[in-house]
Amino acid sequence: MIDPFGREISYLRVSVTDRCDFRCVYCMAEDMTFLPKAEILSLEELERLCAAFIRKGVRKLRITGGEPLVRRNIMNLFKGLGRHLDNGSLEELTLTTNGSQLSRYARELAEVGVRRVNVSMDTLDPDKFLAITRWGKFDKVVAGLDAAAAAGLQVKINAVALKGVNEDELDSMVAWCGERGFDLTLIETMPLGDIDGDRTDQYLPLSVVRARLAENWTLQESAHKTGGPARYFDVQETGRRLGFITPLTHNFCESCNRVRLTCTGTLYMCLGQEDAADLRAPLRESESDAPLDAAIDEAIGRKPKGHDFIIDRRRQAPALSRHMSVTGG
Ligand code: 5AD
Ligand code: SF4
Repeated sequence: MIDPFGREISYLRVSVTDRCDFRCVYCMAEDMTFLPKAEILSLEELERLCAAFIRKGVRKLRITGGEPLVRRNIMNLFKGLGRHLDNGSLEELTLTTNGSQLSRYARELAEVGVRRVNVSMDTLDPDKFLAITRWGKFDKVVAGLDAAAAAGLQVKINAVALKGVNEDELDSMVAWCGERGFDLTLIETMPLGDIDGDRTDQYLPLSVVRARLAENWTLQESAHKTGGPARYFDVQETGRRLGFITPLTHNFCESCNRVRLTCTGTLYMCLGQEDAADLRAPLRESESDAPLDAAIDEAIGRKPKGHDFIIDRRRQAPALSRHMSVTGG
């Protein structure tokens, strides 16, 4: 699949549910309305959609949410997708999770062929963790991380850099991740979806963070690429990688290789644009995949050049009304 700007699309992210057992302050309002269950594709339908993308050249698949591991019977989907790893048509199957259910699932995930997981964790302070996630239990997530490591999964921690919240902790997080053998990626807040507070208060440019971290750590620019949008540095003192995802201070669209599928079968060709394609109708229209394949081709044919996120005090509304939990980041 080649888009109008010559970019090869080989990475699909699939949000399998918009629900979550946390309510992170930068992601959701406390009182969220979720999709009615009837709107949501079955796991079999999601698997059929993924298979169509794999046939068309997707080599890397990431399962996200919401929190993917709260979806009932989710391991059936992982098992089905794992078969594409076994036959070589898929190179990598990964997962983005908040870690709350990892102690239960880590081993099974490793068994179906998952090698890497991204776990969201913004602080090492249990009280702060509760304040940020509203509902999350720090110890449970740490137990999940231990289970992941014990199962042989490579762990990358994702932390959203939040002004006045965890900015004083980022140094200790680099050290903590180093001790445990985890990579760490810092993310700037993106203006996605209505939340209860004001995002301009939380926005912390990573250019500032990196300069501060460089006072304590030797950061060496790394050629490492995961197919994702992060820029990586090697932290010499820990031997682990440190990534920066800077949608607002650095445009990463030129090399975009991905599209995002939601649990209702809507395909977003760009995280930062409203335009989307419905794949549910063509999926259900026929037992043959021909209508689906045609709909995918048509959608890739109008993948936009990039996003235009801006966090601006004069602008009250988020750039996009949909939440990160719909498209999974
Ligand atoms: N801006 C930046 N990151 C966000 N995440 C969720 N909402 C936002 C937002 N508005 C993060 C989560 C997780 C990743 C998938 O996206 O913390 O690490
Ligand atoms: Fe859930 Fe992730 Fe959103 Fe937090 S950031 S509420 S864990 S989907």
